[in-house]
Amino acid sequence: MTAKSPREEILRLFHKTAGTFVSGEEISLALGVSRTAVWKQIGLLRELGYVIEAVSSRGYRLVSTPDTLIPAEIKSGLDTGIIGSEILYFDELDSTNARARQIGDAGGADGTLVIADRQTAGKGRMGRQWVSPPGVNLYASVLLRPPIPPWQAPQLTFLSAVAVARAIEEISGVRPRVKWPNDVLLDGKKVAGLLNEMNAETEGIRYVILGIGVNLNMGAHQFPADLRYPATSLRLHTGGPVSRLAFVQSLLRHLDALYQKCLSEGFSPVIAAWEGFFDLVGKPVEVDFQDRVVRGVVEGLDDIGALLLRLADGTLERVLAGDVRP
Ligand code: BTN
Repeated sequence: MTAKSPREEILRLFHKTAGTFVSGEEISLALGVSRTAVWKQIGLLRELGYVIEAVSSRGYRLVSTPDTLIPAEIKSGLDTGIIGSEILYFDELDSTNARARQIGDAGGADGTLVIADRQTAGKGRMGRQWVSPPGVNLYASVLLRPPIPPWQAPQLTFLSAVAVARAIEEISGVRPRVKWPNDVLLDGKKVAGLLNEMNAETEGIRYVILGIGVNLNMGAHQFPADLRYPATSLRLHTGGPVSRLAFVQSLLRHLDALYQKCLSEGFSPVIAAWEGFFDLVGKPVEVDFQDRVVRGVVEGLDDIGALLLRLADGTLERVLAGDVRP
């Protein structure tokens, strides 16, 4: 764990005292800095959009927090063991996945989180673009160094999907569905996309990047007109704004719990949790393999997460990749 910055320390004090006054002396003692330095930090926080009341003789009181994703605010009250061990925030990046790869190449720690307010070249699957306007959504990449063989890495997608689905449910009370293998849906429309990238050699994985894009507050006019798959945002679905900060904290907690479970018990509990958000078992679907389309009835997932499809001639097809449509 790295040492807390003065800003993180002040925010920690404010959150601990939950809306009551903290004296300037208490802050200066906790930070080991002068009262003038405390005043300066309060000024910097106000510039970031924090509303802080100052009353002489009582001290400072945090009135409201901006919905920014700065590391100090995300870390405040976060008790994860691995995920978010380091948090890096950028106003703008080409792609959080691309930056996380650079950090992975440079030896970055397991659990490092990269977040951007906007992406100029957000990457979607199959070379598509992930539209990433500022101020509204979550664009995040997590660097992991799991001690698993490379063939198991695709199963980490189920981990991100379950964590996103659980965070959506926790924050909004709405239960999303998952689309095999890696989309999260609300009313059949895509609310989150996941893009995992791996750097491995024959002996093992160097790192995996879990790329997570969640449409939280995006308005209808912000979606491109030519989307292949209908899309939505949590705000469009529920009608109310979503705190990006609360969402990312919930997501990190769920990712951490699932990752630790995976490390101790393997992927089966994660795949079982994923099946709890999947509603196509027993239903007819078609799978588009680009060069052919196969129809069958979904029987479930096998132990590595392949989709099991019973075809009309009675044979069982194990699907490892393809676009599944109800
Ligand atoms: C998909 O096509 O469904 C996957 C979209 C993944 C988008 C996220 S946003 C954060 C991370 N950085 C990227 O460039 N892409 C992923």
